[in-house]
Amino acid sequence: MDRPSWAPEGVDVDMPSPARMYDALLGGSHNFAVDRRAVEMAVAKVPDLPKVAWSNRAFLRRSVRFMVAAGIRQFLDIGSGIPTSGNVHEVAWEADPQCRVQYVDLDSVAVAHSRAILAGQERAAAIEGDLRAPKELLADPRLRKMIDLSQPVGVLLVAVLHLLSDGENPRGVVAAIRDAIAPGSYIAISHLTSAQRPEDAMRLGEQAKAGSGVGIYFRSREDITALFDGLTVVAPGVVELALWRPESAEDIYEEPGRSLGLAGVGRRD
Ligand SMILES: C[S@@+](CC[C@H](N)C(=O)[O-])C[C@H]1O[C@@H](n2cnc3c(N)ncnc32)[C@H](O)[C@@H]1O
Repeated sequence: MDRPSWAPEGVDVDMPSPARMYDALLGGSHNFAVDRRAVEMAVAKVPDLPKVAWSNRAFLRRSVRFMVAAGIRQFLDIGSGIPTSGNVHEVAWEADPQCRVQYVDLDSVAVAHSRAILAGQERAAAIEGDLRAPKELLADPRLRKMIDLSQPVGVLLVAVLHLLSDGENPRGVVAAIRDAIAPGSYIAISHLTSAQRPEDAMRLGEQAKAGSGVGIYFRSREDITALFDGLTVVAPGVVELALWRPESAEDIYEEPGRSLGLAGVGRRD
């Protein structure tokens, strides 16, 4: 297909990417035909999939508001995706315009679009970086210009760790970040799960692999809870997306008891 004007040089318009597929799922416009096709195939298998994405975005917004209320004024959003409504800087700045936000993503479309909407902003920026190398990422001078790791930080690992295989060691990645951040920091995690709808989880995992070559790892409740090792999990614990401190009935998109995502927030004491 032709390259849209907003697509960065070098991006393969014939290969789906998780960032663009997720954008398509949310009804965004920064995706290619291959991404939309992959999403259509997944939605044909699990029709309520868009609701999982909306539930996840609602969790992201609530977790940021929670962390601002807890005193956090700098945010590190890793696997931040293609900007859509209710981005971290918008939610944080609504509470306090002094908050600083560093976005990180592996995907060049996500980073290019984030940079475009953040142009001219001093307190928010986006860089390309890889969560799988957390020590290198946290040492990046561009990140360190925005984020002071000697002060509490709110780290967002929202809908990204399920893109890491067991071999890529998501538990080790979270532990490395936990060990590098100051006491009083928080880590928010959401993750696709096989806990409640194992058959749909398996079908979606197989579909993603076969249809788009993307590895999506739906994990058990135990495995997702273990990501919070060494952190104090704040109430209500590791729960389905909509049950993490819902603020209104509008936050609840998925049928209770059937969510494909679990979420929680842990504090580094
Ligand atoms: C499903 S999107 C989630 C976006 C956003 N966090 C949200 O929850 O709305 C996952 C994002 O993680 C990014 N990603 C995947 N693997 C990554 C890695 N190793 N390092 C950084 N970002 C990664 C993808 O490019 C994609 O933009």
